[in-house]
Amino acid sequence: MKAFTLEPLPYDYGALEPFIDSATMQVHHDKHHQAYTDKLNTALATHPELQDIAIEEMLSDLGKLPEDIRMAVKNMGGGYYNHNLFWQVMGPNAGGVPAEELAKAIGTTFGSFDSFKEKFAAAATGQFGSGWAWLVVGKGGLAVCNLPNQDSPLSNGDTPILGLDVWEHAYYLKYQNRRAEYVANWWNVVNWGKVAELFAKAKK
Ligand SMILES: [Fe+2]
Repeated sequence: MKAFTLEPLPYDYGALEPFIDSATMQVHHDKHHQAYTDKLNTALATHPELQDIAIEEMLSDLGKLPEDIRMAVKNMGGGYYNHNLFWQVMGPNAGGVPAEELAKAIGTTFGSFDSFKEKFAAAATGQFGSGWAWLVVGKGGLAVCNLPNQDSPLSNGDTPILGLDVWEHAYYLKYQNRRAEYVANWWNVVNWGKVAELFAKAKK
């Protein structure tokens, strides 16, 4: 039976210091992300007929899944997929501003890069409890939203190209209750090159 695997982080645990600390990255990837992966596999093990379906496909149409594992795929599969994206859209020596096509699209949609950042940060700090802030490509083009828990934008027909995890496990060791400070510092580790790549793919 095929199982989903947790890929190693694409950089060292300490690579995002001082904005995200090494201890947080280690427990976040090795414990939390591993747990989502394992629990997703446990749920899918009861349905071998689903083994060749991509996680994106399952999250895009949860209603098509057998009812007994639908919630597990939404939560654990969402956690698996969201964190895969999260590690990729961050990196060392990152931050700054997006380039070319993505910069243009952000400017057109939000007025300016700064107003986009304001809107995204408001979505991140305003998410009550656990969840994520998202920049997605939807039917109307780029949009910012927040979603609770591990809900994936894919389940709403949107393609996520940038996500910020605002579960306490993502920041509590370093920032305690100061989510806004975590959000403000996080811009320094955004890998805009990767976001631009996902943007180009999402538009096709
Ligand atoms: Fe997380």
